[in-house]
Amino acid sequence: MSDNRAVVVDPEAPGRLVIRPVADPVPDRGEAVVRVRAVSLNRGEVRRSAMAAAGWRPGWDLAGEVERAAADGSGPRVGARVVGLLPEGAWAKRVAVPTHALAELPDKVTFSQAATFPVAGLTALHALAKGGLLFGRRVLVTGATGGVGDFAVQLARLAGAHVTASARRADQGPALRQLGAHEVVVGDEIPPSPKHNLVIESVGGRTLGTALAALERGAVCVTLGVSAAAEVTFDARQFFVNGRTTLYGFYLFTELGIEPASVGLRRLADLVAEGKLAPHISVERPWGEIGQVAQDLIARRFPAKAVLTLD
Ligand SMILES: NC(=O)c1ccc[n+]([C@@H]2O[C@H](COP(=O)([O-])OP(=O)(O)OC[C@H]3O[C@@H](n4cnc5c(N)ncnc54)[C@H](OP(=O)(O)O)[C@@H]3O)[C@@H](O)[C@H]2O)c1
Repeated sequence: MSDNRAVVVDPEAPGRLVIRPVADPVPDRGEAVVRVRAVSLNRGEVRRSAMAAAGWRPGWDLAGEVERAAADGSGPRVGARVVGLLPEGAWAKRVAVPTHALAELPDKVTFSQAATFPVAGLTALHALAKGGLLFGRRVLVTGATGGVGDFAVQLARLAGAHVTASARRADQGPALRQLGAHEVVVGDEIPPSPKHNLVIESVGGRTLGTALAALERGAVCVTLGVSAAAEVTFDARQFFVNGRTTLYGFYLFTELGIEPASVGLRRLADLVAEGKLAPHISVERPWGEIGQVAQDLIARRFPAKAVLTLD
């Protein structure tokens, strides 16, 4: 008899999410079975949960211990502490994860820290890579107080960039400077100068529209989210006038077809173990509180990441 349980959509429940018994995972040959200890929430999957049919199982980010290694001999051994990413269904006690989406954790990295890496950390890492060598370059991060933004500000600073963080309110400035931002711009409009070499843009609407007028020659604006609005108007002349400017449409799961998640997850884990990167967890609760935490995330009642722990 299985003791597996998972978060599932129940339209009648507060926050539409509840924990229910589910079948044990049946791993493919290239998948390890992981006993999950911590998960984190992302805006995209919580938004989808609000519309999904009853019974859908959300969840991208997980960290835990390998209970059964992959039958094909790939990936971590039984008992290894790991972080992993699934396209859905990660919020469960026990899951099967392809070994290309798993990385072993250094002892110093906690499950809760690791659970923040997959979507938020990998998105920041891969989006920043679109700017090439960042040393001495100007990088603008919008939505800088969010899960992705928090990682992007820290990683851009680590890469030697001059970092500007964009936030909604002036009172968010001190925390962003402490995180590594050299400058903070406040409000939903990006000033036309100074110009930036790379923009990591997740807010959409006015923010994306005005960011497109703040690009240096050869700059890349990576658009990856629409936290405020999906529809954008922009001044095309201001976008192209400096020349060779690019708008890059970013979708994490497409990027991971080029470099498997295991690679970036290990890089993030090593940076945390070395004390160079510090995931910002503002909410850490038992997973039974999923409904409330999901509602708080959508209402933006806390900055950066929320983690749920499993016993
Ligand atoms: N394309 C991809 O592959 C990919 C991957 C990861 C994430 N995403 C998307 O990227 C965005 C950022 O992700 P995240 O996990 O960092 O989200 P998050 O933690 O919810 O952060 C949202 C950020 O946007 C800011 N924001 C500004 N206007 C907002 C508005 N009207 N409503 C809500 N937030 C607003 C928030 O500021 P405050 O702190 O002031 O609320 C915060 O900095 C999301 O839209 C997510 O779906 C896409």
